[in-house]
Amino acid sequence: MSNTAGTSAGAAGLRGVVAASSSIGDVNGEQGILIYQGYNIHDLAEHSTFEETVYLLWNGRLPNQQELTDLEQRLRENYEVPAEVLELMRTFPKDADPMDVLRTAVSSLDFYDKAGHKTDRESAMAAAIKLTGQIGTIVAAWDRIRKGNDVVTPDKNLSIAENFLYMLRGERAEADEVRIFDVALILHADHELNASTFTTRVVSGTLAGMYGAVTAGIAALAGPLHGGANTNVMKMLIEIGDPSKIDAWVDQALAEKRKIMGIGHAVYKTEDPRATWLRKFARQMADKKGESKWFEMSQRIEQLMLERKGMYPNVDFYSASTYYLMGIPLDLYTPIFAVSRISGWTGHILEQYANNKLIRPRAEYIGQRDLKYVPIGER
Ligand code: COA
Repeated sequence: MSNTAGTSAGAAGLRGVVAASSSIGDVNGEQGILIYQGYNIHDLAEHSTFEETVYLLWNGRLPNQQELTDLEQRLRENYEVPAEVLELMRTFPKDADPMDVLRTAVSSLDFYDKAGHKTDRESAMAAAIKLTGQIGTIVAAWDRIRKGNDVVTPDKNLSIAENFLYMLRGERAEADEVRIFDVALILHADHELNASTFTTRVVSGTLAGMYGAVTAGIAALAGPLHGGANTNVMKMLIEIGDPSKIDAWVDQALAEKRKIMGIGHAVYKTEDPRATWLRKFARQMADKKGESKWFEMSQRIEQLMLERKGMYPNVDFYSASTYYLMGIPLDLYTPIFAVSRISGWTGHILEQYANNKLIRPRAEYIGQRDLKYVPIGER
């Protein structure tokens, strides 16, 4: 864009630029408040389920019992992925990154949904239900395939959270772990115009289908600046190894200007409200497993970062040791983020389709002008 054609977005990375209207979620960074469709995340984490939250995000209100039962049933009918997609996954290299596997598998689901490119509310909702039902099956199936184990058939009697843990482990999870996992899914469901959600809106704004938009969202989530921090928190704790080494490790990291994973946030300037719940779950899992070292280490890092930098933990900080003590492989933490965020992505895509305008900003042109073409032999 030339200087005369409009106003510059100004901030690098579009920080502070309002790029869409949405009723789905809102983040108040100063006060540490996250709401979905008007409901405080703490209220939902206390009382709701992931399926009910999905209904809320997609429909703008909480369901009555019949509506919730109907949605649960439709999601469960769609837990299974086409056999062809599982076959395709079996051909992938066993050391493939699970996020790359998820992106490719989700993209291929498009072949098996004949209405998958339609953007009317009913068709797009049907695709959203399929994707939300199937995405956990893909993540769990990949972990089984790469380890040479049989893929576990999803159980239609189980919730998304319980079914995921069942398909991953091959046995039913205990109720307390199911509830922790269900609330973790609620906490990760939406976060306004984060990079992957914005991506899904840009793609769906061209009236491309739901599967393409979600595939692009997965690609964006996979980047280390977005979805990868939870795995890095656990790698950091493992690298430090012992609570007695924390202080020296943090001092050195800060002296070398390295970032401590899971600390700080682009929007929250106080505690991330999702971290409040995950701290509680990390402690609960530590007590349950009789392995308190990871929680103690996390708490000490939190305390030091508050004292030294005035910084708080974000959603990724305590989810790391919570998932670790649930026996979940480190490289599945980001795919699990997608198992939850599919609800926010599809909600935003539905909202985009309902009131669509192609998203086509301008670039501030900083190149040269009026250059004359010079034949190649004269350059
Ligand atoms: N550890 C140590 N210092 C940190 C830090 C961290 N995790 N996060 C920010 N800082 C410091 C920066 O080094 C910078 O210090 P300086 O002013 O002395 O140079 C200052 O705080 C501002 O950092 P900046 O990266 O500009 O802040 P931001 O608000 O744009 O960044 C994050 C937000 C999330 C990208 C950043 O905090 C981060 O990288 N955190 C770790 C990764 C992570 O957990 N990501 C998941 C986010 S949900």
